[in-house]
Amino acid sequence: MTSIYFSPKGTTQATARAITSAWEGVTERDLLTEPLREPVVIPAGEPVLVAMPVYAGRIPGLCREMLERYLQGSGGPAVAVAVYGNRDYDDALAELQDLLEAKGFRVVAAGAFVAEHSIFTQVAAGRPDERDRAAMAGFGTECRERIAAFRPEGAHTPIVVKGSHDLRPVKGVPFHPACGPACTKCGQCARLCPAGAIPADDPTVTDGEKCISCGACIRVCPVQARSYQGEAYAKTAAGFAVKCAARREPELFF
Ligand SMILES: Cc1cc2nc3c(=O)[nH]c(=O)nc-3n(C[C@H](O)[C@H](O)[C@H](O)COP(=O)(O)O)c2cc1C
Ligand code: SF4
Ligand code: SF4
Repeated sequence: MTSIYFSPKGTTQATARAITSAWEGVTERDLLTEPLREPVVIPAGEPVLVAMPVYAGRIPGLCREMLERYLQGSGGPAVAVAVYGNRDYDDALAELQDLLEAKGFRVVAAGAFVAEHSIFTQVAAGRPDERDRAAMAGFGTECRERIAAFRPEGAHTPIVVKGSHDLRPVKGVPFHPACGPACTKCGQCARLCPAGAIPADDPTVTDGEKCISCGACIRVCPVQARSYQGEAYAKTAAGFAVKCAARREPELFF
């Protein structure tokens, strides 16, 4: 069984791991540290889980490109997972389902789970929590049963998930991490940045045109030199905290 995820701030990885905790023989592929650069063909007998963080109600564009270009199924079962920061996952799950079906998988289960918002970290702070992890493990058990019952030769009726399959254009996020005086120029952030937005020869810079605001550079920096700053960010963060205060719960689809 293959578990593929993209997780700059770690919550999508934690979600994928909680779901697959009772599964045997799981091989992980982290698209942040090990991006797809050549075709990966999943045999029909091997289930796949694909877990994506939700960016602007969709899956991250660079993951979409990678999966579309290099991932190939052979009619086997897949589980689609969207992890979002307690605002909404909008069309991300529908998009991921369609992408996986188009790539030769049969999506037998899907789930949307909540995690701490990676830009506005006071939203859903500390999630996934115990209650989330229990729901994730329960979802994993149900998925395992669906996968065991899956017959590739049988008729496949696509599951119905929430969200539109008619995708709207994506609006980018206007905030990007800035670098403060604590930076030692170790270069770790530049090496990890999935968008090539931090120049190796001057890691104090962030190229706002390239940056996808994923937060990997903030997480990896050993001296906490990178952060979101500025009045516009603070104002939006405060508004978001109010708007997204109500706890949302996991939503599961079979
Ligand atoms: C660019 C960007 C856009 C986001 N858009 C949304 C969104 O539309 N809805 C939402 O609830 N959370 C949104 N989030 C929050 C993430 O979906 C959430 O924090 C995610 O689980 C982060 O995954 P990670 O910890 O694996 O990096 C966004 C985060 C980023 C970085
Ligand atoms: S510079 Fe932007 S894209 Fe690169 S790691 Fe930091 S937040 Fe992510
Ligand atoms: S990881 Fe931190 S200390 Fe190292 S170059 Fe990047 S910002 Fe500077």
